[in-house]
Amino acid sequence: MRVELHDDHLRVVAPDHHADFHLRWLRHNCDVDRHPATGERTVESAELPDELAVADAAIDDGALRVTWVHDGRVSRYPLAWLAQHAYAAERAAVPRPPPDVAAIELDGSAGPASVAGDLLARVAERGAALVRRETASPESETEAWIAALEGRGLGLVGTHFGRIEDLRTDNTTNANTDQLGYTDAAIELHTDQPFLDEPPRYQLLQGIRAADRGGDTTLADGEAAYRYLASLDGEAADLLAATPVRFHRRQRAFEREVIAPIVEVRGGRVRVRSSYFTVAPYRLPFERMTAWYRAHDRFVRLLRDPRHHYAFRIRPGDALLYDNRRMLHGRTAFAGARWVRGVYFDDPR
Ligand SMILES: [Fe+2]
Repeated sequence: MRVELHDDHLRVVAPDHHADFHLRWLRHNCDVDRHPATGERTVESAELPDELAVADAAIDDGALRVTWVHDGRVSRYPLAWLAQHAYAAERAAVPRPPPDVAAIELDGSAGPASVAGDLLARVAERGAALVRRETASPESETEAWIAALEGRGLGLVGTHFGRIEDLRTDNTTNANTDQLGYTDAAIELHTDQPFLDEPPRYQLLQGIRAADRGGDTTLADGEAAYRYLASLDGEAADLLAATPVRFHRRQRAFEREVIAPIVEVRGGRVRVRSSYFTVAPYRLPFERMTAWYRAHDRFVRLLRDPRHHYAFRIRPGDALLYDNRRMLHGRTAFAGARWVRGVYFDDPR
């Protein structure tokens, strides 16, 4: 038998069965907090710290032994007692959002038209695909990428940036300059254009020129993160899907807003709309605000957990396509004349 430690619970694993227990539940049921004569519980769960952490957990001598971080106490739970009180026996664990970059990488040496089919299949499966390609002048290939994707049925979506957006610090394409994409600053995970009723379905990011330092891309699978959250905290997941918030973008010559929940579950698929820099101040009933922040922040902390990230560098020649309604993207700060091209696409109408 063995013990698996998770963020707020642990799993006791035997060869043919398993059971999950929250750390709070375990500490609330600690064998030390019993009256020596009557055996009655002497602790109220409200007396425990809000955050509990385990320094060590193991199966010893027919019992689960847990050592707690905050006070160093060792608690013992006989396995027969755990079996009798198991409230989550044989629980099916939902996997964490995946981080394996190799699972989204494709060889693009045969060129955009040849790889486009595999690219779209991988995006449908994984939410993103990164085509590795070396080519002498990547900027002359953007139209070939567009033609390859249009040839597979995608429709280019023009935006307030124009048809092709050049993401570079000297900003040659965007008349509305007050935007993080045109700086060398880090941008945390977000989805693009949440202030539109229907944000563009896909973004193509094509590497044109490398940064001298930094500029790494991060992707997180919002659908997987939401399913993982729902398996840990159903109330938070329900609240995220049931609470509309306002996204608002106002620039010199552009203004849009939309009121929509951060997560929408449609036809069994999860759509995410998340942008810390365009979400408007929340207006919720006073008595709902605390629960809202708790749910929202738990979701975003799962998304921002580096264990749940695809992290890589888009090199010159490479092309990344991701599903903007499923994946969140971000980048690290950089130095130098990094240049990435962005093009949005929708599914065929
Ligand atoms: Fe973006």
